[in-house]
Amino acid sequence: MTTRGRGGHVEPVRTAEHARPDHFLLHLSDTHLLAPGGQLYGSVSPEATLQRLFTDLEAAGTRPEAIVFTGDLADLGEASAYRALRRIVEPAARRIGAQVIWCMGNHDDRATFRRVLFGQVGSSRPVDRVYDVNGLRVVTMDTSVPGFHWGALSGVQLDWLAEELSEPAPHGTILALHHPPLPCIQDLAVLVELREQRELAEVIEGSDVRSILAGHLHFSTSGMFAGVPVSVASATCYTQDLTGEARGTRPQDGAQSYNLVHVYGDTVLHSVVPVTAGRTLSVTSAADSAAVLAAHGVVVPDSTVARPAKRRRDAVDRELEAMTSPITLPPRSE
Ligand SMILES: [Fe+2]
Ligand SMILES: [Fe+2]
Repeated sequence: MTTRGRGGHVEPVRTAEHARPDHFLLHLSDTHLLAPGGQLYGSVSPEATLQRLFTDLEAAGTRPEAIVFTGDLADLGEASAYRALRRIVEPAARRIGAQVIWCMGNHDDRATFRRVLFGQVGSSRPVDRVYDVNGLRVVTMDTSVPGFHWGALSGVQLDWLAEELSEPAPHGTILALHHPPLPCIQDLAVLVELREQRELAEVIEGSDVRSILAGHLHFSTSGMFAGVPVSVASATCYTQDLTGEARGTRPQDGAQSYNLVHVYGDTVLHSVVPVTAGRTLSVTSAADSAAVLAAHGVVVPDSTVARPAKRRRDAVDRELEAMTSPITLPPRSE
C-alpha cells in the first residue's frame, strides 16, 4: 500500500514506532484539602482548584483506567476534608469509569483516612494496599510517620512489599508512595525526606516495579531509583516556585499540575499537565488528527495487551455505586 506524500511523490504506508499504550493512569498529588471553605495561606482554595481540574478533565473526555493520588490529601487530616475529596473525585471517577487509588501522606491522619476513604475502623497501622488495574499492579505504600513530616518504611512494611513483589504481575507494577526516594534540591526538604532509602532499593531491585509515583515536593521532577524511573507529581493546591533563591523555599499560588501516566510494553511516560491551561493558539481535533495520519499512510497499532471484555453498563454502574455510596462510619472516639 502507498500514499501520496509531500510534493506529490508516493510514500509507503508506515507503522508508528510504538503501538498505543497498554495502560493510562492519572497521577495527582498533594490536594491538601481543608474543611469546606478553608484556605491555605489565607487565600488559596484547594477545593476550588481540584473541582476545576475534574470539570476540565471530564469536558476533555479524558478516560484513564485509574486515578492515583500520592498523599497529603487533607492538609490537617480532617474528616470533613476527606469527605469533600470524595464528593469531588468519586462522582467524576464514576462518570469517567476510573478506579480511585488513595495513598497516605505526612499531612494525612491514618485513622481518619481509613474511616472516611475506606469505611474501615480507624487504626494507626500503615495503609499499604494493592490494586489490580486490568493486569497492571499498583501498590500504595504508606511512608508517613505519625507526628512527623519526614518519611520512612518499617521493616514490616518492606517485608510485606518484598512478599507482594515476589510474584510478578501480568503487566508489571507501579509503586505509589508520598515521599520520593530522590535527592532534595531544596534544603528544607532534607528535613522531611524519605529516610533509609537504601532499604527500599534492596526490595525494588530485580522486581517488576516499572515506575515509582510520588508527591510531597509540590513541584514536578523525576529521577532514577534502584534502576526504576521515579516521577514526582507537583501539587494541585499550591506549588514551590523554583525561580526563587537556589536551595531556598518559596510557595506560590500557581503552576498547579497533575501527570498523565502512559504505560507501554517497554517504557512508561509521565507527562505534566498544568491545571490552568495557557492561551489556545490552534486546535486539531482527534478526528482531524486521525484523518491526517491516514492521508500520510501512517498507522498506530493498538496495544497488543489483551483487554478485559467491555463490561456491561449495568455491571459498571453497580461497581461504581458501591464505590461511591455513602459509608457507615463507626462512632468516633475523638
Ligand atoms: Fe504536601
Ligand atoms: Fe508531604
